[in-house]
Amino acid sequence: MRQRAEAGVPVWDLGVRLFHWLLVLSVTVAAVTGFFAQRSALDVHLIAGTAIAGLIGYRVVWGLLGGRYARFASFVFSPRATLAYARSVLAGRSGRYLGHNPLGAAMVFALLAVLAAIVLTGVVVLGGMVKQGPLAPFTPFAIGTATIGVHKLLSLLLVAMVAAHLGGVWYESRRERENLAEAMLTGAKHGPAEPAAGVRAHMRAALAICLVGGVLAAGTLTALADLPGLGVPTTRLDPDYARECGACHTAYSPGLLPAASWTGLMAHLDQHFGEDASLDAGLATRLRSWLVANAAEHWDTLPAVRIRQSIDPKDPARITASGFWQRMHRRIPAATFANKEVGSRGACNACHMDAASGRFAPQSIEIPEDLQ
Ligand code: HEC
Ligand code: HEC
Repeated sequence: MRQRAEAGVPVWDLGVRLFHWLLVLSVTVAAVTGFFAQRSALDVHLIAGTAIAGLIGYRVVWGLLGGRYARFASFVFSPRATLAYARSVLAGRSGRYLGHNPLGAAMVFALLAVLAAIVLTGVVVLGGMVKQGPLAPFTPFAIGTATIGVHKLLSLLLVAMVAAHLGGVWYESRRERENLAEAMLTGAKHGPAEPAAGVRAHMRAALAICLVGGVLAAGTLTALADLPGLGVPTTRLDPDYARECGACHTAYSPGLLPAASWTGLMAHLDQHFGEDASLDAGLATRLRSWLVANAAEHWDTLPAVRIRQSIDPKDPARITASGFWQRMHRRIPAATFANKEVGSRGACNACHMDAASGRFAPQSIEIPEDLQ
């Protein structure tokens, strides 16, 4: 254990180590929830993503003000130097770096860039498709759907990069006969003592910048997220509509069907799915106009756009006959809908806590407890 006896040169300062392991934790949570979790667990994914965004911001500040080996300036290598190092690794005679070697440094920058791109595309998807987050007031649904593929692709790329990073750490650990993962935990590596650059004063400045920057960013982003989402009408249900059309089932948000479906449905209220739901002519006309004025065409949300695109031509007044509705609920057994806690497929509000608003956010899905 000769190396152990020599060990003790402080290389990774506390700022770098905290960043590294908190990032490992947040990326793991984000990846597991992103690839495997149910839609209702979206909030956990969002918390992990927010943590990653904060950690990237913090690392940038620390890269300018942190300890000697934390600073970007200490591990910026020219492409030529990086290539030369790669060649020396292949030839089996690469030199030793106490901080990041040129390939490791390239990986740090690449990981930070890809992570930042994943966070950014995630916020675009969230804003466009879920109409949540700071970009919700500005992002059309179509932009959100166009971005989700990029978000997924970058996430797969990140998984590959993490694998390459682990491979690099394993290879270098063997070559240097030093456990580099442990060094990232303790901060110390073996080697000749080098004068440590003073960090304390900088540390305070970095903390202050992170704190002020973090509060400002959080305030701005929260304020943006509180603005109404693009294409999410906030009009309340017409009280007459809520009373008359909510008498036998939940009063459906007008955004759940296109105008043509509502017009057809309102024209045959006396033969309404086997029931007589007639209204007096004046009220029927007024409610039809209200439904048409607030129909799916006026919404830019996931349920409105997708139901509109997949209406069943043979059953155009049935939300639950649309291809989108069927796809979303294909894994739910018929018995769950039939159970008296729910009643029917059309009892949206039994499982979607925000059904009345027409939003159907993933986080508001709750199947009654005893049916799960
Ligand atoms: C007398 C009771 C009654 C009234 C009043 C009533 N409905 Fe219905 N509605 C039904 C029944 C029954 C169904 C079919 C439910 C099923 O098959 O699961 C239905 C189904 C629907 C559906 C299709 C839901 C699905 O499964 O996709 C829509 C949309 C709808 N009603 C809209 C309205 C509107 C708009 C009004 C007001 C003008 C209204 N209903 C008033 C009884 C009623
Ligand atoms: C028995 C409970 C239940 C009922 C009733 C139900 N849903 Fe759902 N719904 C779910 C579940 C669970 C999911 C998530 C499915 C998944 O992710 O695989 C879901 C997903 C959705 C989504 C996608 C949400 C998103 O962004 O992830 C929409 C939109 C939706 N439902 C609309 C409706 C509408 C409209 C009705 C009524 C006509 C309805 N649901 C009735 C349980 C239900």
